[in-house]
Amino acid sequence: MMKYDFDTPVARYGTDSIKWKVEEGELPMWVADMDFRTAPQIIEAIKARADHGVFGYSDVEDDWYDAYINWWDRRHGIKMDRSWLMFVTGVIPAISSAIRSVTDPGDKVLIQTPVYNVFASLISHNNRVVSESPLVYENGQYHMDLTDLEAKASDPDVKAMILCNPHNPVGKIWDRDILAEVGRICHENNVLVISDEIHCDITSPGSSYVPFASASDICRENSISVMAPTKCFNLAGLHSACISVADKTLRAKIRKGIFTDDCSEPNSFSCLAAVTAFNECGDWLDEMNAYVEQNRRRVAEFISEKLPELYLVPGNATYLLWIDISATGHKSLEVARHIRKTTGLFITEGVHYGKCGDDFLRMNIACPASVLEDGLTRLKKGIDLLS
Ligand SMILES: Cc1ncc(COP(=O)(O)O)c(C=O)c1O
Repeated sequence: MMKYDFDTPVARYGTDSIKWKVEEGELPMWVADMDFRTAPQIIEAIKARADHGVFGYSDVEDDWYDAYINWWDRRHGIKMDRSWLMFVTGVIPAISSAIRSVTDPGDKVLIQTPVYNVFASLISHNNRVVSESPLVYENGQYHMDLTDLEAKASDPDVKAMILCNPHNPVGKIWDRDILAEVGRICHENNVLVISDEIHCDITSPGSSYVPFASASDICRENSISVMAPTKCFNLAGLHSACISVADKTLRAKIRKGIFTDDCSEPNSFSCLAAVTAFNECGDWLDEMNAYVEQNRRRVAEFISEKLPELYLVPGNATYLLWIDISATGHKSLEVARHIRKTTGLFITEGVHYGKCGDDFLRMNIACPASVLEDGLTRLKKGIDLLS
């Protein structure tokens, strides 16, 4: 029996939700937020803060640092020093600011496609150039091509790499050895690693992610990590994240950047939500992960029984499923549009995450089981109508 309720659908239509800005009757399973209410402890803390009624400027207090330090120590086996941590209003504002601080216009930034589409857009919006090291898709699984990564990193124009750890959209936790090797390659080629760890705590029961900075001394010294409670506790609208930088000189540069870019000030709820999540809501998170795992298994079963032309890439992180549609003979844009038009199911076309994603669809399964069933029925109908 679960203590928390993930089964009851929450009406989000008409609530200013980006994900739910759809036609009535459509079912959005795209943008990466959850259709679950966050942990009740967080809701109560926010209500109590709201009751105070004064929403003046807020500061980052000791409890915020302690919450991050203790959570990462307890859950992820890394001892972060308080001095490493800086509040930021979001993971993307932080990465974007870091790119401006550590690279110059015209420099190249490495990414491993298919990957969260905003990486490529933030690089080009900042007048930097994307250098792609595609992941290898082999025997139905993804892995990094370290030979290719080393070749790309050795280009003297490549100054930074954005690592997605765990990886969206392929749903993968990277092993410690692989991360250490990425760290070695980047260090030897003077490439700074920016590790996006926003999906850190959405992992299958029994598995956990490896913080990049914990993989080796080199990884720790030649990186910045960006973490947040927002993806894992469904708080994206509260704008609350954290940059961790162990190296002092690098940290000073990053700190100056986030101040200049005005992304270092919390709102009245952002620290409170993070502190409550990390200090009080571990059991909620564990149940949420168990629920998502149940959904993942259900999709795997459904696809293998009823949709033999699809293949679910096995994953152990994120609530985003990466589905191979190559056997349908159609590309992702066409299939996603067709499914939406014929069934109202809105899932993301894989080409969004890089050209190498064009044979895939991404489906967000952080929703009640009954909603998932509706999604699967629509998916089957859409695929059946394709032929
Ligand atoms: C890998 C990754 N990084 C960052 C973000 C967004 O971060 P934020 O909302 O804190 O800017 C997302 C959202 O989907 C994501 O998947």
